[in-house]
Amino acid sequence: MGKITKLEDIVSLCKRRGFIFQSSEIYGGLASCYDYGPLGVELKNNVKKAWWKAVVQMRDDIVGLDCSILMHPLVWKASGHTDKFADLIAECKKCNVRTRVDHLKERVEEAAEEHTKHVSIESAMARAEDLSNKVCPNCGTVGKFTEPMPFKLMFETQMGANVDDSMTLYIRPETAQGIFANFRNVLDTTRVKIPFGIAQIGKSFRNEVTTKAFIFRTREFEQAELEFFCEQGTDEKWYEHWRRARFKWYTDLGLKKENLRFREHEANELAHYAKACVDIEYRFPFGSGDWQELEGIANRTDYDLRQHQRGMRTVNKWYENNRDLTNIELADEAGDFEKGPLSYFNDEQKKRYIPYVIEPSAGIDRSALAFLVDAYDEEMVRGEQRNLLRFHTAIAPIKVGVFPLVKRDGMPEIARNIYDDLKRYFNCFYDEKGAVGRRYRRQDEAGTPFCVTVDGQTIKDNTVTVRDRDSMDQVRVSTDKLVSHLREKLDL
Ligand code: GAP
Repeated sequence: MGKITKLEDIVSLCKRRGFIFQSSEIYGGLASCYDYGPLGVELKNNVKKAWWKAVVQMRDDIVGLDCSILMHPLVWKASGHTDKFADLIAECKKCNVRTRVDHLKERVEEAAEEHTKHVSIESAMARAEDLSNKVCPNCGTVGKFTEPMPFKLMFETQMGANVDDSMTLYIRPETAQGIFANFRNVLDTTRVKIPFGIAQIGKSFRNEVTTKAFIFRTREFEQAELEFFCEQGTDEKWYEHWRRARFKWYTDLGLKKENLRFREHEANELAHYAKACVDIEYRFPFGSGDWQELEGIANRTDYDLRQHQRGMRTVNKWYENNRDLTNIELADEAGDFEKGPLSYFNDEQKKRYIPYVIEPSAGIDRSALAFLVDAYDEEMVRGEQRNLLRFHTAIAPIKVGVFPLVKRDGMPEIARNIYDDLKRYFNCFYDEKGAVGRRYRRQDEAGTPFCVTVDGQTIKDNTVTVRDRDSMDQVRVSTDKLVSHLREKLDL
């Protein structure tokens, strides 16, 4: 225990054991896109399941949703993304490589921490005034940059086959807006009452200027977002609640407390929609300061629902403009705006209002990377190095490995029967190849918490050994109690 994990160790393990591959590798790869292999997809599914269990299943006040990735273009006008979702970049005049201005480092600056959230263009502008001492991360040239310019982060695509019915769409850069757009639908079809939340897990896409560190920042990624609707005045209480709840989720799933921290946002780095924001940061083994954002928790106020009410009032104008957003201004908040279609009516108080929103927004890929990094360990056992992933049982891709000690004396048949029985409950792996010690090591490296071995004694007394990954201790368990024994140990 206690070894400092390097990103190279994780990348190499992921490739070797089929957790994560470079996308389109047979064609030379596609930058910043990754594929999850057989172990990786189980890991990622388990992260999503654990999030859904904590955020939706275990709570009475949250419902789920799965929205389409392509949405009406006005959604992104209303949310502010078409106008404001951009990074400020500068191009090095020597090598022509473009870098995010907030990622440029001073010539003499000590490894400053790089914050990964997209800061508002205004605050980036304010901080970018002087690039004369900044270093190009590609060629090392100092102070030779073009004027900073905004670079739009949303991917665009075209929908429709005919010239007169086709339009430009955006590939969603966050899942949150699908939730806001369905706020009314959920209110009308369920019995939710404020305070309540709507949760969603799904893919998002951003044309990031700088991608980095394996699956940490990619152009296609998965988010797990909760929009928690509450009455103004209770928003600060719920903000506190979600900060605590989300931090605990990571530690409950095994991330070491010393590798996690909160980082409050300064007023000048808040996104355009936020009244307050805090990041849960993880000490990743890369970058200039190691601490990097894992999840953001923001108080989005009533900004989004208000904006979508304005967007709804803009639809006719958009049609008149040939379904084009160019030069379109959102309708204003005239009239009975507070009582509009995205307001909420409190029956008991006989009061109508547009709710506030607290948003915990997590990255599934980033969480998967943090779970991998935190679980990775190497130790010497009887003169040999043992590599292992000390995953929490809920996260482990394979829960139980099943082996016959040798391939004779009826052991494979018994082991197969046990495997067929266990796989109804857990994801299991059957292996009869090579020395049993090697098979244990392979499962250790995959993070499998338990291995069941059928041996000579099984034939005599119907017991098997159950080996614990972390302690390597073995206990004998009767085959008829094996399912209940493992269910208890795995908490499944
Ligand atoms: N709806 C709010 C929102 O999207 P964000 O801070 O931009 O906020 C939330 O993103 C989370 O999504 C981040 O904390 C991170 O875990 C994940 N994320 C954002 N951009 C990412 C990228 N390019 N690659 C991987 N994960 C990303």
